Amino acid sequence: MNSKSSKPKHIIIIMDGNGRWAEQNGLSRSAGHKAGVKTLRNLIEHAIQLELTTITVYAFSRENWQRPKKEVQLLLELFISSIESEVKDLHENNIKLNFIGETDKFSGKLKKSMHESELLTSGNSKLTLNIALNYSGRWDIHHALLSIIDEVVSQKISVKEIDEELINKKLSLADYDEPDLLIRTGGEKRLSNYLLWQIAYTELYFTDVLWPDFNPNQFNLALEWYAKRQRRFGKTSKQIEKNENA
Ligand code: IPE
Ligand code: IPE
Ligand code: MG
Repeated sequence: MNSKSSKPKHIIIIMDGNGRWAEQNGLSRSAGHKAGVKTLRNLIEHAIQLELTTITVYAFSRENWQRPKKEVQLLLELFISSIESEVKDLHENNIKLNFIGETDKFSGKLKKSMHESELLTSGNSKLTLNIALNYSGRWDIHHALLSIIDEVVSQKISVKEIDEELINKKLSLADYDEPDLLIRTGGEKRLSNYLLWQIAYTELYFTDVLWPDFNPNQFNLALEWYAKRQRRFGKTSKQIEKNENA
């Protein structure tokens, strides 16, 4: 674990504010979501230039099913069309696509797009883009718990072997560095059930900028803010400074 590292290895993003952006611009909410996809696309291009390695975005929460049926339907269609239109470019740019969340709840068509894009890009190594779809932090923990209980019941492991490391392994993103920086656009200062366990020591950056307006300059501001954080992980400032100067 780095105490101070100017470049975050893993950035997680709550892309919020599409609906308000659409309203401000006299557009439908769905047009706001479309603009949001463009923002993500630009940001990924920028992230490649900055040589960032892992980005995990929240695209649809388990709670988002409660939105009006029409909005949910258009969102799901947008996921399919965006994956299909972007995957070739992502692949050419050596980007690995990976989905997290309870994805078996989706239609066959969306599942197929997700599966095929993961398969196509699985060998890529420049940057990993994880997309959280039908995700929630509590679901993640519950899911991990069930898997552990299963292993105990089938006597694959004993209760004594259940430690934080094992829980980590059962959660989404187990294969990646712990998130260094969380960015939430749209002005709300809450987590909305995103990666609850994984963000124990993540630096939290909140901005009022609505997601479709979040451009590379805005992203740079978040990175500059992050570079100034002193990450202590429970230690004192002095201890950290001593190590940095050693
Ligand atoms: C985030 O933007 C996108 C999703 C949750 C799918 P919103 O749709 O929540 O936008 P606001 O918060 O209503 O402005
Ligand atoms: C969080 O945004 C989920 C995503 C960005 C996918 P929401 O707009 O759903 O969050 P709340 O409801 O304001 O907390
Ligand atoms: Mg919102």
